[in-house]
Amino acid sequence: MSTSGERHAADHAPSHPAESASPTSAVEVREGLRAAGYLPAAETALVCHLALALGKPILVEGPAGVGKTELANALARMTARELIRLQCYEGLDEAKALYEWNYRKQLLRIQAEREPGWREVEGDIFTEEYLLARPLLRAIASEQPVVLLIDEIDKTDQEFEAMLLELLSDFQISIPELGRVAARTTPLVLLTSNNSRELTEALKRRCLYLWLDYPSPEHELAIIRMHTPDLDEQIARRLVEIVALVRTLDVKKPPSIAESIDWARTLLLLGASAIDRDVLTSTLSVIVKHRADLAVVGERLGLSGARPGDDDGRQAA
Ligand SMILES: Nc1ncnc2c1ncn2[C@@H]1O[C@H](COP(=O)(O)OP(=O)(O)O)[C@@H](O)[C@H]1O
Ligand SMILES: [Mg+2]
Repeated sequence: MSTSGERHAADHAPSHPAESASPTSAVEVREGLRAAGYLPAAETALVCHLALALGKPILVEGPAGVGKTELANALARMTARELIRLQCYEGLDEAKALYEWNYRKQLLRIQAEREPGWREVEGDIFTEEYLLARPLLRAIASEQPVVLLIDEIDKTDQEFEAMLLELLSDFQISIPELGRVAARTTPLVLLTSNNSRELTEALKRRCLYLWLDYPSPEHELAIIRMHTPDLDEQIARRLVEIVALVRTLDVKKPPSIAESIDWARTLLLLGASAIDRDVLTSTLSVIVKHRADLAVVGERLGLSGARPGDDDGRQAA
């Protein structure tokens, strides 16, 4: 870890190996992400390129299941960097995100002292040895540049966001008992949000913005083919068409890429030779996960006779 006193220690370290060198164009980023198993839209590749070149965090917003988290994973694979992930949740605080003192260990240390001289013990128990580094501190202190994923930031409160702002603008953390911990290397930071609340303007100002939406049919087809290369192309095309159609309906939860991939895997597993009425009826729940939605979709696709809960077995024409 680099505290203020020794934070230049890494200045003379050799530069990073060539294979983890930053790509120098959006096209290179696109190719790099593809090689890492992620098919980015043109805008995604561009924003990632800018983030790497400018050292700015990316705020990725969009509905669930469109590849926000996976983008961070793929960027880590592409740059051969460690991924440090902070999963956000309601009530997440600094002790779980930044650092906390290892009280138990401190207590043991105090008890182990035969004649406790507080001054010596105090100087001792507020050192790195007694510190529990949480994801944000680990990302800052890492000697090698990392990819830091702050996932689902919209689940935290504004107070937490404010704390994060400081970190994102200065790339340093102050620990009162220990001093300033400054980043030696700039982490590539991705924040994701499902849009459950509006994030502050202050946060947005510090980040590049990327809106990830449901992909175009061609793009989704390519993603499906990448995840399930053995699935028949005609079936994959039909799958993408149906999923796109379902997204246009008035449903509570439109199917995401995650559901499309699950459906492709299901069809492959079942050895389906086409998406016919029977296959559709028996596998619809892989992409539609609300009872009310099943009814809406079933009706639109002409499956109303097979609606779950309908037990008269009536077949629609
Ligand atoms: N552009 C893409 N290329 C390859 N796979 C993708 C792409 N977008 C999404 N996926 C896949 O879709 C699934 C859901 O992605 P995920 O990152 O978990 O979504 P989110 O974090 O937005 O909820 C994952 O299995 C991921 O691999
Ligand atoms: Mg996610």
